[in-house]
Amino acid sequence: MKIIAPSILSADFTKLGDELTSIEEAGADWIHIDVMDGQFVPDITYGPIIVKAAKRVTSVPLDVHLMIQNPDQMIPAFINAGADLISVHVESCIHLNRTIQLIKDSGIQAGVALNPATPVSSLEWILDAIDYVLIMSVNPGYAGQKFIPNTLNKIRDLKNDMEKKKLSALIQIDGGVNEDTIADIAAAGTDAFVAGSAIFGSKDYKQTIESFRKKIDA
Ligand code: DX5
Ligand code: ZN
Repeated sequence: MKIIAPSILSADFTKLGDELTSIEEAGADWIHIDVMDGQFVPDITYGPIIVKAAKRVTSVPLDVHLMIQNPDQMIPAFINAGADLISVHVESCIHLNRTIQLIKDSGIQAGVALNPATPVSSLEWILDAIDYVLIMSVNPGYAGQKFIPNTLNKIRDLKNDMEKKKLSALIQIDGGVNEDTIADIAAAGTDAFVAGSAIFGSKDYKQTIESFRKKIDA
């Protein structure tokens, strides 16, 4: 089954509880939480306190995307706060295998994220140990950026690679997913779709998610 993961980066933070309830009712499969530290990426967002608050109002799995330096230092706090899935960037992990083990040892799912210029080959010796690969289709740091087209080839390469090796990690795409791009992204072999501005910027979240599903399944 394909997964739609709205990113709360584009939600209205003056009413986060209501936004989470609305997005759950609209049919979100995961809720994507973008954590930025002002070091790995230019902007600063939120930490475990928001994950803990979200956990109190929704039962949808919380998918935490760590765009931070030294993620090992913060992973236990995000796990305690209620994260159900955590992804870390290959570019920020010196001992990636150890970081993945740290996440998996707590019983939750682990993902590895790749920046647009990072090759799929960097996953060669970690792919069999992870639950999902997060392919960034914009440079991480901000919502509302334009989808980078060569990402489609990257998804196809990764999909082929995994089929050859009989591996089953999900492929998640993040950045510039919208009504115009989602069909091609799905056709390339994507399993999980993160979308911030295209969902939270729309008038009717349910209608937008349903329209995405039609395009994904077409
Ligand atoms: C970007 C974040 C994304 C962001 C996507 O650094 O990782 O999750 O929210 O935003 P849109 O869907 O607006 O491109
Ligand atoms: Zn993200």
